[in-house]
Amino acid sequence: MKKILDLITGEVTQAFVDCGYDAKYGKVTLSNRPDLCEYQCNGAMAAAKEYKKAPFMIADEVAEKLSGNAMFSMVESVKPGFLNLKLDEAYLADYVAKMQADEGRYGCEKTKEPKTIMIDYGGPNVAKPLHVGHLRSAIIGESIKRIGRFMGHTVIGDVHLGDWGLQMGLIITELRERKPDLVYFDENYTGEYPEEAPFTISELEEIYPTASGKSKEDAAYKEAAMQATYELQHGRRGYQALLSHILNVSVTDLKRNYKNLNVSFDLWKGESDAQPYIPDMVQKMKDDGFAYISDGALVVDVKEDTDTKEIPPCMILKSDGASLYNTTDLATIVWRMKDYHPDELIYVVDKRQELYFTQVFRCARKTGLVKPRTGLKFLGFGTMNGKDGKPFKTREGGVMRLQYLLESVNEEMLKKITENQKAKENLEISEEEAKETAKMIALAAIKYGDLSNQASKDYIFDIDRFTSFEGNTGPYILYTIVRIKSILNKYHSMGKDESGAVIEAAHSASEKNLMLALSGFGAMMENAYEETAPHKICSYIYELANAFNSFYHETKIMSEENEQIQKSYIRLLELTKSVLETCIDLLGFQAPERM
Ligand code: ARG
Repeated sequence: MKKILDLITGEVTQAFVDCGYDAKYGKVTLSNRPDLCEYQCNGAMAAAKEYKKAPFMIADEVAEKLSGNAMFSMVESVKPGFLNLKLDEAYLADYVAKMQADEGRYGCEKTKEPKTIMIDYGGPNVAKPLHVGHLRSAIIGESIKRIGRFMGHTVIGDVHLGDWGLQMGLIITELRERKPDLVYFDENYTGEYPEEAPFTISELEEIYPTASGKSKEDAAYKEAAMQATYELQHGRRGYQALLSHILNVSVTDLKRNYKNLNVSFDLWKGESDAQPYIPDMVQKMKDDGFAYISDGALVVDVKEDTDTKEIPPCMILKSDGASLYNTTDLATIVWRMKDYHPDELIYVVDKRQELYFTQVFRCARKTGLVKPRTGLKFLGFGTMNGKDGKPFKTREGGVMRLQYLLESVNEEMLKKITENQKAKENLEISEEEAKETAKMIALAAIKYGDLSNQASKDYIFDIDRFTSFEGNTGPYILYTIVRIKSILNKYHSMGKDESGAVIEAAHSASEKNLMLALSGFGAMMENAYEETAPHKICSYIYELANAFNSFYHETKIMSEENEQIQKSYIRLLELTKSVLETCIDLLGFQAPERM
């Protein structure tokens, strides 16, 4: 099923052609003057030059050609040469009815050229607790993954664990101080990995910060940690056994955390998985003459003639031969290309890593790790700030852990729901349902608060605003969906049935406005995909929810006496609900039954 914008453009294009003008002038866009019209075409302005005619003469001719066309209720040419259009109510109702029958696509066609896309997002570091910086990557990446899939692409999400750095050596060093008798510390340990981990997740979460603190004060401790890291990376069996325990315990905990966020990954690969690919990759870069020694380190030049600022070389190996963050990212590209043949790689990472990724991408292209056609996209996101405009911190000034943030929003939501319930008389929600509902709304508040901003911008985490049931917020969208659900339930509980009914031409301006909002779904989705921009979905559903609520306030739905009209309303409500639900699913949250 075609987008409505394409159908309208098709009709207007035909009119241009019939009048003897080139088809390219028939392009129609959404009106930027909604007070005057719904759609507009500015083609006559451009055609005027080619045909050496006054633009309004061309616009007049085309308008004349379109007069009487069943698609439009108004075709107006206005000086100096614009075409203003309004859709015919019956045509619009028919389109909206077809959206409903479109098997969950709502007028959005799947891509004709499906791609394989890999998204690198989440990026948590093993054994370190998740903090709010990781939240944005998870939220944005998850939504982009869902949008890509909805458009018909194969999208693979990889969490890309940070599991290869000094933090591993630090943990091993600290464990050794605490439990020197563990078999893993025996230099000759060659045994299999015992199943039971020698620590729990809460110990692990405490061990890391302790070790990290000590290493800053105690040079010998730091030396030991670096040595342990080196030995781990060079194959010491006991340490590798410990690494696999650390990974297991940490990943189990991470999975639980991500599940609470409604975020999931197809691959749980990490930096350590890239290590086996490093030697061959480095050798090839040397053989091909790309990598050379500079100040002892192995580097690849990545600057280009058109650069306006200095792009330093990409460092491949340190002077002691150790690999770096870069090396790991490049070797990760190697296995991703080999095992999954992606057409595109997208990285959802803090925008402060932009220069770094510019180096990595250029190096990957130059040295042939990717095909010339392979897309490499860096989607850098801004910082989540507190109300003071500074990076979000705990009240004590420490790094805000994700878990605390979630808990505080959950609490706030539960308070609100309980108050709301008290205000109503006959709605009894059990404590358990209230808690579940609070969690759902809290997640919507957090995700919508994040996604409604353009990803690259910093934003202020304002818990009062985000959790409000009014305004451009997640809870407002959920509230709208719940309102529709409750009307539909009421209607059906009266024993009524709307199945088979048609959606009639709008009976009021607010109803037409709702239909217009619905009909824009397809174009909006294409745009959100092409621009990797979940915030476009947010603006769309905010507009749609507003259009619905105006319609709802102006229309007596339940007391409508004409049965056919009532059925038509109910069908429209169902479509509105489905489109809203589809959109919030693409944003990564869901609506409760009631709230
Ligand atoms: N673990 C990193 C961090 O916490 C993010 C990883 C981003 N992805 C990547 N391929 N480098 O900053």
